[in-house]
Amino acid sequence: MKGIILAGGAGSRLYPLTLVASKQLQPVYDKPMIYYPLTTLIEGGIRDICIISTPHDLPRFRQLLGDGSRFGLKFDYREQAKPEGIAQAFLIAENFIGHDNVTLILGDNIFYGGDTFQRAFAEFKSGATVFGYHVQDPERYGVVEFDANGKAVSIEEKPLLPKSNYAVPGLYIYDNEIISIVKNLKPSARGELEITAVNVEYLRRGTLRVQRLARGFAWLDAGTSSSLHEASAYVQTIEKRAGIKIGCPEEAAFQSGFVALTALEKIVGEMPNCEYREYLAKEVVAEAKRLKK
Ligand code: DAU
Repeated sequence: MKGIILAGGAGSRLYPLTLVASKQLQPVYDKPMIYYPLTTLIEGGIRDICIISTPHDLPRFRQLLGDGSRFGLKFDYREQAKPEGIAQAFLIAENFIGHDNVTLILGDNIFYGGDTFQRAFAEFKSGATVFGYHVQDPERYGVVEFDANGKAVSIEEKPLLPKSNYAVPGLYIYDNEIISIVKNLKPSARGELEITAVNVEYLRRGTLRVQRLARGFAWLDAGTSSSLHEASAYVQTIEKRAGIKIGCPEEAAFQSGFVALTALEKIVGEMPNCEYREYLAKEVVAEAKRLKK
């Protein structure tokens, strides 16, 4: 399974924060926003990741994340010249995807809790898997309607009258059919290749699975000033209470077996003195050494 992180867009809803640094580089409590979706992919065992952003912002992502080797990953960076829709990512990444299955995660979506995605990646064979998450304001999202047996029957993008409270979060898993499906899509009224149109096509073919995310699962999007602030507060609350970090790619890469303990120790040793380094040194490196004994 290949992975795509879509981290472009104008970020206009966060203006003036986004005048200099793009939305997905903004801090969510103690780390850049993109660390969270990156960690979700690493936890899911995905190592080949294409990062898509604007020509203006892409160099910043390269500067932040490098070639991926410090996480035991391989990054491929691609430009999206204009924000012409989430689904356009599959055309930009066509030769990166090759003949594989692919998952796309939005760079401003933060997920926490459980192993639903890990299992969905591991069990995925064909068609499409997307998720449904109960929200208070479904009209802001793609909305999925279920029948009495829990089967998805419709998906609509930002409907004025939502047929349910289940929004489709920004993590999508597709088989290789995705490429031909997107090639046959027409831009919507707002001039975008819509991800919801892709999901509607899989639904029409009878190959779409929509898995409802359990109540204990957290899905936050950090696309507006107040949701960004709420996401930071959420991360701070959990991290302080539990003494763990959410969205720590170095830790996830180590736990997934992508980075050996000696390599992690070296990486941590090169970090400046800070809380992030202290956490990795004490809670990850020292703890792993203790358990080894
Ligand atoms: O967050 C989940 C929702 O994301 C889904 O429920 C909706 O079905 C889906 O359309 C999308 O809705 P948004 O209104 O959040 O989409 P937005 O245009 O804000 O784009 C989401 C992220 O993707 C944003 O961080 C910018 C990035 N993006 C978006 C477009 C359209 C790109 O990088 N390139 C693009 O062309």
